[in-house]
Amino acid sequence: MSLSLPIRPRRNRQSAAIRDLVRETEIGPGHLIYPLFLQEGDVIEPIASMPGCQRWTIEGLVKEAGEAHALGIPAVVLFPRIADDLKTPGAEECFNPDGLVPRAIKALKAAHPTLMVITDVALDPYNSDGHDGLVSEDGRILNDETVDVLCEQALCHARAGADIVAPSDMMDGRVAALREALDDEDFSGVSIMSYAAKYASAYYGPFRGALESAPKSGDKKTYQMDPANAREALREAMLDEAEGADILMVKPAGPYLDIISHLRGSTTLPIAAYQVSGEYLMIKSAAAAGWVDEEKIVYESLIGIRRAGADMILTYFAKDFAKRAKG
Ligand code: PBG
Repeated sequence: MSLSLPIRPRRNRQSAAIRDLVRETEIGPGHLIYPLFLQEGDVIEPIASMPGCQRWTIEGLVKEAGEAHALGIPAVVLFPRIADDLKTPGAEECFNPDGLVPRAIKALKAAHPTLMVITDVALDPYNSDGHDGLVSEDGRILNDETVDVLCEQALCHARAGADIVAPSDMMDGRVAALREALDDEDFSGVSIMSYAAKYASAYYGPFRGALESAPKSGDKKTYQMDPANAREALREAMLDEAEGADILMVKPAGPYLDIISHLRGSTTLPIAAYQVSGEYLMIKSAAAAGWVDEEKIVYESLIGIRRAGADMILTYFAKDFAKRAKG
């Protein structure tokens, strides 16, 4: 017996063809940014805390980035593991023109001119204290002094050919300072992707293992945001927009979909979301145990981030996803 039901939403789901026609959100390799780790020397090293990821040599990085780009990924973002003997309280290695990152940028741009190279701007890989900013004798993170060093770091990346600098440090006023420093040196074409709403998150644990960059003492709660706060994310985002950011980022992504959605409704700027190392590891480890289907979970996690309003996603799954998208 049929119910008298004029409205039946299932009609729009009854075949693959109609589901294709009514699908509201798309995700493809062109939406993805591929984060890559690198280290000095000629050994490519698997990262124990992030199965499936490695610390690349510059040569390996160029090859991996080239393969990703050939699969349709427009951009990579670089994270260096800096040797312990180069880490100092002043993090001076972060603006060494012959340092690992500037050499990697040059090699990438020479080999793949159409690939965008994004660099992380923050002091933690270079700082013997493991913090994103400079640390005072009494353990405070020094805001304004840090911003000066971040400007040096960003200029070093721009001189080497970086397309986008991505400040992940959460110091106040850094977007305006970076914009001014870049423009003063005629780098008005270099974009700023600001980590506008970056939360103090346990989801970064595996990443800090990859770079051996965990803070030596204390935590990052005086600069990264409290996971309990949403309005504050809007405040940070509006400030970064006013200071000249080109793209705003929310990080982590999956547990903060409401923040992505909130920002989407409040700004006309493009929004990036970072599916961070802990989100990656949770999927990887559950899939390795045979408990979830990796391919389907990855798709669902990424489409969810897009549906919330992210234009682009930084994800360690980028290359695998692009390979599958290609068939
Ligand atoms: C540091 C930085 C971090 C990440 C990107 N840049 C770690 C942190 O803030 O402690 C985390 C990325 C990830 O977990 O995948 N400036």
